[in-house]
Amino acid sequence: MDNDLIQLVNKLQDTFANLGGELDMPQIVVVGSQSAGKSSVLETIVGRDFLPRGAGIVTRRPLTLQLVHIPPPDPDNPTASSYAEYGQFLHLDKRFTDFGEIRREIEAETFRVAGQNKGISKLPISLRIYSPKVLDLTLVDLPGLTKIPVGDQPSDIERQIRNLVLEYISKPNAVILAVSAANVDLANSDALKLARSVDPQGRRTIGVLTKLDLMDAGTNALDILNGRIYPLKLGFIGVVNRSQQDINSERSMDDAQAHEKEFFQNHPAYRSISHRNGTRYLAKTLNHVLLNHIREKLPDMKARLNTLMGQTQHELDSFGDAALFDGQHQGALVLKLMTSFARDFVSSIEGTSSDIST
Ligand code: GDP
Ligand code: NA
Ligand code: MG
Repeated sequence: MDNDLIQLVNKLQDTFANLGGELDMPQIVVVGSQSAGKSSVLETIVGRDFLPRGAGIVTRRPLTLQLVHIPPPDPDNPTASSYAEYGQFLHLDKRFTDFGEIRREIEAETFRVAGQNKGISKLPISLRIYSPKVLDLTLVDLPGLTKIPVGDQPSDIERQIRNLVLEYISKPNAVILAVSAANVDLANSDALKLARSVDPQGRRTIGVLTKLDLMDAGTNALDILNGRIYPLKLGFIGVVNRSQQDINSERSMDDAQAHEKEFFQNHPAYRSISHRNGTRYLAKTLNHVLLNHIREKLPDMKARLNTLMGQTQHELDSFGDAALFDGQHQGALVLKLMTSFARDFVSSIEGTSSDIST
């Protein structure tokens, strides 16, 4: 997430909290068929390796991942603050600083509740990641849509997973990442079908096309990426995640992103659209969606600030200036400070809202 956005959101959240309100940010939810690359996409958005990924059914319980912004330990040197990042599960009283250990705990906790044999549970695993590099945001990883029951899965597994996914993506403030693999016909994309059922206008759905590197030779997804096949207001973004072999050999995220960039820039079909594809562009688009969401909230916030200022001014007038310092009216001083704070803030919002609109 980019730094300006993190700072803006933190400031807005603090201000809303001071006003007794809340800036409810959208939840980002991934939807798609099993092994489409949902967990891989979420991981690259967060920028850390910590989710179980792999062929077959790996994600067997919802994971609600709450990113929580904390101030860096050394404000003069924020880049040196990675040691301050840690994860904490709701089910366990322990701080995890090793992200590999977080992954192992997700796996263990999946097995504990959903069993050893491919079973699914709708009971979410709740994980918080505290970091100076994130903004307060919730992302949800979900089991993939599947048709044929395997292992301990019940005969109506398709319906059960569908209902589970619907529970999360029906929320009006959910941003849906509809993940489809490019080596499967888009007409069969369960992700898009399900997203359309709750977001028929395609206003809060971002199409993500994975596995572009695995398409048959001589074919490409240019028409899809150019929005000529399936209409979505927020469009389709192609990505190349780490392959199973990359996972096995523990290829780093940085290395994988460099490889992805090269893929788009060197590919004869994608070269001309490489600037609007790839993981970094996906993260940017997501930032843009979040900023738009915040912009929609600004008028309400300004109205609340104005009301507060009006009330405060009225009370101040009734106290008179001398009363501010006589000890009996400490409250008046606080009110005076809050008023000037609120005034500054309204002007700073006016500044930012014009930045956002560009
Ligand atoms: P999920 O089941 O939708 O969460 O998918 P995962 O993220 O677990 O990925 C499933 C498998 O597909 C893993 O083996 C990944 O390495 C592989 N995979 C995901 N995205 C890509 C991609 O863009 N290219 C390649 N080559 N493999 C991918
Ligand atoms: Na998988
Ligand atoms: Mg998964």
